[in-house]
Amino acid sequence: MYNHKLSSRTLLLPAILLLLLTSAAVFSEIEDADDLGDIDELIAIDDEQENGANSEPATANFETGKKSEVLSRAQRVVLELNTDGPKRTIEENEYVLVLGYAPWCGRSAELMPRFAEAANVLKGLGSRVLLAKIDGDRYSKAAASIEIKGFPTLLLFANGTSRPYTGGFSSEEIVLWTRKKTGAPVIGIRSVADANEYLKQHSTYAVGLFDKFEGPDYGEFVKAAVADNEVQFIETSSAEIAKVLYPVGTLTKPFFGLVKSEPEHYTSFDGHFSSDEILHFLENNKFPLVTVMTELNSAKVYSSTNKLQVYVFAEDDDLQKFLKPLQEIAKKFKSQMMFVAVDIKEDNLAKPFLSLFSLEDSEDSVVVSFDYNSNSKYLLESDITSRNIEEFCTGLVQGTLKPYFKSQTIPDNKNANILTVVGKTFDELVLNNPANIVLEVHTPWCITCETTSKHVQKLAKHFKGLDNLVFARIDASTNEHPKLQVEDYPTLLFYPANDKSNPTTLSTKSNLKDLAALINKILKTQEDATKDEL
Ligand SMILES: *[C@@H]1O[C@H](CO)[C@@H](O)[C@H](O)[C@H]1NC(C)=O
Repeated sequence: MYNHKLSSRTLLLPAILLLLLTSAAVFSEIEDADDLGDIDELIAIDDEQENGANSEPATANFETGKKSEVLSRAQRVVLELNTDGPKRTIEENEYVLVLGYAPWCGRSAELMPRFAEAANVLKGLGSRVLLAKIDGDRYSKAAASIEIKGFPTLLLFANGTSRPYTGGFSSEEIVLWTRKKTGAPVIGIRSVADANEYLKQHSTYAVGLFDKFEGPDYGEFVKAAVADNEVQFIETSSAEIAKVLYPVGTLTKPFFGLVKSEPEHYTSFDGHFSSDEILHFLENNKFPLVTVMTELNSAKVYSSTNKLQVYVFAEDDDLQKFLKPLQEIAKKFKSQMMFVAVDIKEDNLAKPFLSLFSLEDSEDSVVVSFDYNSNSKYLLESDITSRNIEEFCTGLVQGTLKPYFKSQTIPDNKNANILTVVGKTFDELVLNNPANIVLEVHTPWCITCETTSKHVQKLAKHFKGLDNLVFARIDASTNEHPKLQVEDYPTLLFYPANDKSNPTTLSTKSNLKDLAALINKILKTQEDATKDEL
């Protein structure tokens, strides 16, 4: 048996891509060029903005602004930073959430109105956080001075010290995250009317019912509210209000429950009131039975700590059809794995995953899964039916699925000087081959692969006729094998005839003569060893 471990790099590829596409991480480097032409004063766009008297209680009463109002005022509550203001602004305000953007950057353009709307809602809620933006393209030095090095970047400064933004990217999620990290992690609902009003606008939240808003249980609840990045925590001491927000079961104090917008609506917490247990409970339960992946939630999906994940890729219509049966399956595997549905036509979302299976051009629906305990990936190779998906999930839980390794179709190597090895023939042509093997591992995109390839061709010619030495090559972008763990391309591996488990890496920087000499030396050593044994 080979160990079925993929290089973590292979599996983490989608993580990296998705995070690059969707998180607050750096999107593109700011160019060094800078135009510091006119030094403008820091301009407060919103002349009505009141300073001071902005202290917010640890829990704020729930309020909402009307959407149209919000949008019309939205652009005005974001402070625009430029050349000499930023550092002072972040140092003089307790909390500043800064958006670094570039006018030409599409993702910045998408984020800006949401950011502005969030700013307005936060202002309406009496939040003491200041929202500011800086054109990092125009004022690149100033932006760099406050750690903004790409677009879009979101950073929260607390007394001048930054932390990265880890929330979602809708205006609501920006508000939620920002309040969590700036001293207002919990919303207090004080009347049944407020509770009903809240329900009109929100379908996902967590409710805490406590006798008093103090003591260790309550402390842990608040601690969890701050640590979590995306679920709004609500608190009440009234059983009547709690019943409106969480209308099932008997609620005994202290109570904590999660409400979602899906079947499996209500989940109550039955653990010990510690923030770790509460967070663990949320992690296992906060996702819907089946999460439909979007640009907005992809970072969140990817950062999930669920170790087992099943993905269904299909065209939108089919996806809608799959959803119901999938939810039924998901119920059976609840808290064991996470189910994600992805529109196969959404290239940004689907391709990073599908390319791990060489299926990036697939027109048909695809079901795959990942086990992040063992870093393995799996492909459902039978027809996509409820029964087959369920069997696939059972296999995933029980660890009986066969991990997937990419392979091209088996080529004809007749009369070839250099054997072309694919995933499926790696065992036969490399590991079980009685000869010494020189294996060139290449990819189509690597720049220096061609030079190495030419060297290998010349070496193959030079050593032609030696039946204990075989030259071979494998395209690692489309072929995988558990025993082939290569991170750099090109790589030249020498597999000695007598020990295929320990290939020697030959330097691809060596010139042809040195390579030939090295191979000769290895063969000579082998011969001598064989003679000694005789
Ligand atoms: C910021 O500094 C002030 C004054 O020292 C302090 O009262 C406040 O707690 C600090 N806030 C944070 C978030 O560290």
